[in-house]
Amino acid sequence: MKKQIQIFDTTLRDGEQAPGFSMNKAEKLQLALQLEKLGVDVIEAGFPICSNDDFEAVKQIARHVTNSSIAGLCRASQKDIDRTWEAVKEARKPRIHTFIATSDIHMEHKLGKTRAEVLEHAKAAVSYAKDRCADVEFSAEDASRSDPDFLCEVFETVIEAGATVVNVPDTVGYGLPWEFGELIKFLKENVSNIEKAGLSVHCHDDLGMAVANSLAAVMNGADQVECTINGIGERAGNASLEEVVMAMKTRFKAFSHETGVISEELFPTSRMLSEITGIDVQPNKAIVGDNAFAHEAGIHQDGVLKNPLNYEIMEPQKVGVPENRIVLGKHSGRNALNNHLKRLGFQFTQKELDVVYKGFSRLTDTKKTITDNDLIYLSTNGVTEIGARFAHESIQNYLNK
Ligand code: KIV
Ligand code: ZN
Repeated sequence: MKKQIQIFDTTLRDGEQAPGFSMNKAEKLQLALQLEKLGVDVIEAGFPICSNDDFEAVKQIARHVTNSSIAGLCRASQKDIDRTWEAVKEARKPRIHTFIATSDIHMEHKLGKTRAEVLEHAKAAVSYAKDRCADVEFSAEDASRSDPDFLCEVFETVIEAGATVVNVPDTVGYGLPWEFGELIKFLKENVSNIEKAGLSVHCHDDLGMAVANSLAAVMNGADQVECTINGIGERAGNASLEEVVMAMKTRFKAFSHETGVISEELFPTSRMLSEITGIDVQPNKAIVGDNAFAHEAGIHQDGVLKNPLNYEIMEPQKVGVPENRIVLGKHSGRNALNNHLKRLGFQFTQKELDVVYKGFSRLTDTKKTITDNDLIYLSTNGVTEIGARFAHESIQNYLNK
């Protein structure tokens, strides 16, 4: 059955925690307003107990954002919850997001608590948060390495205590799509009161599977996906929002689910984040990388020029990229070169084009990036040997040699 998957953006919290990605208060507000424009359902604005700056940033975002819910993260303790509530309470749609670890590894080696103690903490935290805020999300940290039966018990307890969303983090990026999908299915079938809460997932990318795991979860009943712009986040990052959204949109028939994201805002949002943090995405990054809609191979260029559908599964404009790019380089063919030359105002006969192409091919042996100026130069002057150009010689003179 078709449903709208909730997109929970944690760029300003999990993303900002990553080395090199810190943002100041004004930058966080700027990005939050863009995330709202993008149409995300929930913006996790920060971890208010962490610092005064984080607290102030969350508070400011809560005051200015109206359409998206504003979540603040806190550990399962009253002090943390109070601070978070103070930060988000002015939001039109505030959410308290509290968490505690549920895996044996974390409970024993990090918290030094028994299962019963963790269960008690989770219940108390959610009840305390619920007395303040109607919308309470509970995360079972390291859920993917937790005992599934214990996870069911924890989720049943916190839903009973008032949690509106229960979240299954693959905290250490250990999950595999089929296993993680199975876990979601298991929880859907075995948490007796699951219909009273939304089921969320939060995947990290340590094995490069955060997006695949999130999508497997969607296929198995998850209602919310937590993700970040450009996939930034702790260590190898979180599931990339743009990839999750565009997978569901481009392959709608495979998922039958949609999101409320305005996909045309994906590229502008990605670029805004890069500008704010000073960290570019890698050129081959899906959806928003410089090369995502660039074609250099001759056969591909020829195919795209005949019909973009030959080599593009989505229109660049659908994700906010103005147009595809035919990159001229050593793999380019005559058709792409001619097309580019026409845009620069040159009309050549086949014979003339052969000559320009010969010069162009030689130039690409020595020069990686061919600019418009190079092409103008080649077209109006002439090339006789690698890199050697004879100024003031018209191409006609060159042809007559
Ligand atoms: O990765 C994680 O487990 C988290 C939780 C706090 C949601 O970021
Ligand atoms: Zn995380």
